[in-house]
Amino acid sequence: MPDKFAVTSENELRKQIWSWRGFGETIGFVPTMGALHAGHVSLITKAKKHADKVVASIYVNETQFAQGEDLATYPRDHERDCEMLRGTGCDLVYIPEKMYGDDHRTTITVGGPALGLETDDRPHFFAGVALIVTKLLNQVQPDFAVFGEKDYQQLLTIRRLTADLDMPVRIIGAPILREADGLAMSSRNRYLDEAARQIAGRLNVIMYDCAQKITDGENIDTATKRAKAQILAAGFERVDYVAVADTNSLALLKGKLVGQPARLLVAAHCKTVRLIDNCPINCADN
Ligand code: PAF
Repeated sequence: MPDKFAVTSENELRKQIWSWRGFGETIGFVPTMGALHAGHVSLITKAKKHADKVVASIYVNETQFAQGEDLATYPRDHERDCEMLRGTGCDLVYIPEKMYGDDHRTTITVGGPALGLETDDRPHFFAGVALIVTKLLNQVQPDFAVFGEKDYQQLLTIRRLTADLDMPVRIIGAPILREADGLAMSSRNRYLDEAARQIAGRLNVIMYDCAQKITDGENIDTATKRAKAQILAAGFERVDYVAVADTNSLALLKGKLVGQPARLLVAAHCKTVRLIDNCPINCADN
């Protein structure tokens, strides 16, 4: 079949996948909403380590945005994104125009790691993510799919979803890529003006300091309360959460950390931009 780098129809996608499958090749998948940056490229690189062929999708999924969020203004530049993906190890870009038929009625109820944290502020979010990821996985039928640890709760939610629904795909997490000052790479960072960008760079510093204090034995409540105050003092408008949770279940942890593998997760508003970040907590007895 003709070698096409980008396809827009499910039919073309499936033909290419079947052709690769015919040669016994394995498929890796990286779903994205476009506005790609080096963090996305690192997901492709990771996928290529596991699979013969890598498919990336670009689709700004309406069901994970609530009223008043940035669905309409979310940056869309498919040409630039495709250019960026060339030479990264990506073999095919899937850019569907529409993912939901006018008669679409099915929803997914998510639980476990999807509850709390992001869900407290964005109750619609993980149901929308679960729906689009299920549809994309059904269309691409990859052996592996790679999700960034930047959206740590999303990664665990997708792991739960695919395990609970017996979906034949392995979900692989990939580490967060950071700017020189440690700001986690994100498509939404481009919304930050110069002053906000300066402030944004403080979030990871405060987060790592908090993680270190907890590692050193400080009470979680004391450390996270201080971190919240520091984030506000750094110039953030609002803090949605600074929380410590079990690495696998995302159950919230309190008191002193003894023994269990844990993750520190933060979400805060820098002017109009909501930033999230997270890091592992390396307690000596973890
Ligand atoms: O992480 C994202 O970019 C999106 O939530 C995803 C997984 C592509 C689903 O739209």
